Amino acid sequence: MNIGLLKLDGRAFLAPLAGYGDSPFRILCRHYGAAMVYTEMVSSLGIKFNNTKTFGMLVFDPVEHPVDFQIFGARPDAMAQAAEVLAKAGVDAIDINMGCPEPKIVKTGAGSALLRDLSLIDAITSAVVRATRLPVTVKIRKGFLLDNNVAEEILAICEKNGVAALAIHGSTAVQGRSGSKDWDVIAEAKAKATIPIIANGGVKKAEDAKRFLDYTKADYVMIGRAALGNPWVFEQINDVLGGRSPREPGVDERFRVMQEHVDREVALKGEVIGVKEMRKHLAFYFRGLPEATTYRGRINQVKEADQLKKLLNEYRALCTGASEEVHHDA
Ligand SMILES: Cc1cc2nc3c(=O)[nH]c(=O)nc-3n(C[C@H](O)[C@H](O)[C@H](O)COP(=O)(O)O)c2cc1C
Repeated sequence: MNIGLLKLDGRAFLAPLAGYGDSPFRILCRHYGAAMVYTEMVSSLGIKFNNTKTFGMLVFDPVEHPVDFQIFGARPDAMAQAAEVLAKAGVDAIDINMGCPEPKIVKTGAGSALLRDLSLIDAITSAVVRATRLPVTVKIRKGFLLDNNVAEEILAICEKNGVAALAIHGSTAVQGRSGSKDWDVIAEAKAKATIPIIANGGVKKAEDAKRFLDYTKADYVMIGRAALGNPWVFEQINDVLGGRSPREPGVDERFRVMQEHVDREVALKGEVIGVKEMRKHLAFYFRGLPEATTYRGRINQVKEADQLKKLLNEYRALCTGASEEVHHDA
């Protein structure tokens, strides 16, 4: 199944990840076989009012295609205008955020607040679909409060308005980033859906993704936290879905990817911000490696890209000595 006219080569997508899912990280995930990459959420009002910081977030590289650009907001007109701007910028799809539980987003009526206002969902989805010929996707949680389940009602609105695919995170907004993930809500929506369903929430490793797809019968699976410091998870998922054993990258490959990630962040954001951004990513890349706590502490002291790369070389030598094949605790 494709998403609108988009032909996708695989079933695993990179989830939108604010603070992480920038162009350098998306490039690495695509390289390792993510079938589509979602951007981190971008404010529709920021796009409408030419906010400089927002425009910095619109950068993407041709190798990222297909890119699904996520916007958030509560005003149908601003969401529609943002979609027009993004379509002109050459993105492949527009995604509408209806799941963010952050209070600063919710209090503006955007993100997961929309789950409490189905008529606004109706207005936003129809305005955005009318504004662009690109496929429009929607990402929801199953509801706002703990016992809410509005997934099927939202699915019906999306289908009526021409939304191309629906991603469902099987938890509620009040659960935030913890709590159990409800696979049944996704399976039930899929059983009724005429558009592709993207299953999201709680995949930790490649085998989970296959179980999730098998159980829910969803068309695609979306991976968030399991991709952090671990972009090769997409290759592993593709392997498992293809009946092959997933490949664990060795020490050299892991460090090559880290170095490439540093280079790309610094090239895109400059040395000061690039190095700062990489501290967050490297904390994830180091998971499961020997003496990770020590090296996390050391990279937090580093300010220059050259120093950071030297430190990574030193750490690689230590890890190579410790083991030829590191078992990564994903
Ligand atoms: C650091 C972080 C940032 C996130 N940013 C966004 C975002 O910008 N937009 C969005 O729809 N969801 C966002 N999410 C939610 C994820 O896309 C995903 O739905 C959630 O993490 C569950 O999937 P997972 O268990 O595979 O991580 C974020 C999650 C995390 C951990």
